[in-house]
Amino acid sequence: MTHRTPLIAGNWKLHAGGHDGIELALAVAEATKSTSGVQVVVAPPFTALAAVSASLEEAGSKVEVASQNIYPKDSGAFTGEISAPMLAAAGVKWVIIGHSERRLYFGETDATVRDKVTATLAAQLIPIACVGETLEEREAGKTLEVVFRHVDAFADLFAENPGVGVIAYEPVWAIGTGKVATPAQAQEVHAAIRQRLVEKVSAEVSEKTRILYGGSVKADNAQELLSQTDIDGALVGGAALVAAGFGQIVAAAQTA
Ligand code: PGA
Repeated sequence: MTHRTPLIAGNWKLHAGGHDGIELALAVAEATKSTSGVQVVVAPPFTALAAVSASLEEAGSKVEVASQNIYPKDSGAFTGEISAPMLAAAGVKWVIIGHSERRLYFGETDATVRDKVTATLAAQLIPIACVGETLEEREAGKTLEVVFRHVDAFADLFAENPGVGVIAYEPVWAIGTGKVATPAQAQEVHAAIRQRLVEKVSAEVSEKTRILYGGSVKADNAQELLSQTDIDGALVGGAALVAAGFGQIVAAAQTA
């Protein structure tokens, strides 16, 4: 079995977009500096990306920077948008794509997600593509139908460089609600996604692709989630805003 390096990514959402972002990133660097074998990523708002990546580099930290969104065109008359080359120039290496909040509040569709994954990979950045069902969809027995539709929208784009692209499974009902999926519930969907990758892309992509869990991950539930066979890391929201707790999640990934 291929060894997949665990990945813990902090999605700061609409928080810490100024000097507070630099402080938080440096505190995360400090809290995670003695952990090894885990990749650590922070995703500040656009306004803090360049400053955070410069500060982390200056501090000699291994923590890397993600953006929370991207626009799929490189340049042009698209007022208010940020492109992949701009993100790369700001020191960004990762891009969170298709988060459920983007799908819900900003009208992102599977087609949008596909375009953004394409642009991200073209710029040699790493996509973290988010998938996941709502509570209504889960209760209607449609979890896998929805998750497969989300995955199928971009999975073939992962074929060229197996192991580069990352998938985050985030059940919408578990995001910011404190209602974490049980490790068994999460593992079941992760295993199904991995099998879907075998069928739709290749065994190699399936084996090498990291599938993160997201939704109310905290220091006290991380270990059990991260011990599941097909859970390769976490996309952390609320608990990523306090460096010490986030550091404990990273430490849990090291031991899991
Ligand atoms: P949460 O958010 O950890 O606050 O539930 C996770 C996410 O939305 O990525």
